[in-house]
Amino acid sequence: MYPDKKITIAIDGYSSCGKSTLAKALAKKLGYIFIDSGAMYRGVTLYCMRHQLILDGKPLNEKIEQALPFIKLSFIYNASTEKHDLYLNDENVEELIRMPDVASNVSHIATIKCVREKLVDEQQKMGQYGGIVMDGRDIGSVVFPNAELKLFVTASPEIRAERRLKELTQKGVSANFKTVLANLVERDLIDSTRTESPLIQTKDAVFIDTSNLTPTEQLQLSLTFVNQVLENCKDKTNC
Ligand code: DC
Repeated sequence: MYPDKKITIAIDGYSSCGKSTLAKALAKKLGYIFIDSGAMYRGVTLYCMRHQLILDGKPLNEKIEQALPFIKLSFIYNASTEKHDLYLNDENVEELIRMPDVASNVSHIATIKCVREKLVDEQQKMGQYGGIVMDGRDIGSVVFPNAELKLFVTASPEIRAERRLKELTQKGVSANFKTVLANLVERDLIDSTRTESPLIQTKDAVFIDTSNLTPTEQLQLSLTFVNQVLENCKDKTNC
């Protein structure tokens, strides 16, 4: 069904809009690598929290820059979840980085220029051979501006908060709708108004509203776009 050509798929969008679920499903279907770039920002945030590099909610930028060479992030495949877990300096932190305390600090860490430069560099290396689906906020605009397919995914804030709350509850983390919604809205604002690589929908991105789509419907819809790109690539040598 899918030819040998391995494209790059960039998925951007607001927090908890389902982009990681979609990216993971697309990668599985296509036999591509899936990278959750948000996990990397969360990993740096966890390191900063553990090393007192965030004071009263404010990141200590200079100290964080000095610490960057000591932050090693890697993804290792977990057969039970069929997903790559994030390792911070060889420790599996996949669960820890999803906790509300990391969520409430991560947007601030993601505004720091040197943090973004380090992570963008690592992300570009991971995707240099194509065959990758990466989701985040700046994937189509900064990390892979030449990606063959760019998707911009969103859903209403209330629906996103409900989904996030369900995820947390399933993990046994206590949270309430109001707090989750407030965190999402705050993160949306910081992510889309920051100076460094704000979240934007690039002109060449396809817009998908997942509010009323099941994960299966989102996958089917996205596969139609993938097929269009692959079809267009058939007779082009530069594609
Ligand atoms: O996708 P997520 O919610 O796990 O992302 C966590 C935070 O990291 C989010 O507030 C925005 C930031 N982020 C970013 O700035 N750039 C990316 N490519 C991915 C995430």
